Amino acid sequence: MPRLAYVDGRLTPLGDAKVSVEDRGFQFADGVYEVVAVLNAALLDWPGHLTRLARSLAELWIAAPMSDAALSMVTARVLKANRIRDGLLYIQVTRGAARRDHPFPSGVRPTLVMTARPFDFRQRVGQQASGIAVITQPDIRWTRRDIKSVSLLPNVLAKQAAKAAGAFEAWLVDDDGAVTEGSSTNAWIVRDDGVVVTRPLSNSILAGVMRDTLLRLAGEHQIRVEEAAFSLDEALAAREAFLTSTTAPCLPVVRIDGQAIGDGQPGPVTAKLAELLWLEIERQTGFRR
Ligand code: PDD
Repeated sequence: MPRLAYVDGRLTPLGDAKVSVEDRGFQFADGVYEVVAVLNAALLDWPGHLTRLARSLAELWIAAPMSDAALSMVTARVLKANRIRDGLLYIQVTRGAARRDHPFPSGVRPTLVMTARPFDFRQRVGQQASGIAVITQPDIRWTRRDIKSVSLLPNVLAKQAAKAAGAFEAWLVDDDGAVTEGSSTNAWIVRDDGVVVTRPLSNSILAGVMRDTLLRLAGEHQIRVEEAAFSLDEALAAREAFLTSTTAPCLPVVRIDGQAIGDGQPGPVTAKLAELLWLEIERQTGFRR
């Protein structure tokens, strides 16, 4: 079955789907996006993604392409047309197509593109058992990382460095030696006193939807969490470390730059939080590992 892409009101075979060469997403990275997990044909944390998309658009003065209700209907259409049971939905909105000129053009419509592809979330179960390795890279991004902009070149370079090093992810380190987040994930540690630590929301990191869900679950289960910046040295000395994202709900980090974290094995706090997330995923979507 050919994959179908939604481009400005139409479902088109992916290979034929096109936007203008003067689309500002293409020429200026003038756009935003969301990646949403689909499990058991249901969207995970959809309201959280809608809210973040609206915020990203508003921060860049890009008009919403349609109402949330209409967007939800298009989303359902895209998933159905692509027969997605477990997969990833990609939504991109750019300012639109206009003659290349830096200031905002007047009278353009935003470009809305959606694609969907199958994704095997069960591969995360094995990675959860073995743990994954991360490397570190300097955080060379702009200072509005709270906006989920399609301008991802620094993230792409960091992830490529991780891949070349045989690691799952690159954790980004700011000029003060603090970990901001991963190239496409949020970063967490478990301190020696058992407290779970993740960087507080600010312009320095993306407000991960999975991060938010995990914070809520930790609160509901009396797991102590502190939203505070932590340094790379603190991460290296931590009892446990892990990362969260839509595509990797909760994975233990057992090595950073080749150095073992704790005893080099996935730890109990991470395992507990990952378990809570799987249960939440099942509650929302009916998906079973
Ligand atoms: N990335 N930080 C960054 C820089 C990200 O790009 C992402 C998500 C996250 C985690 O956010 P969430 O929990 O909402 O997925 C944190 C997506 C998955 C991507 O670019 O593919």
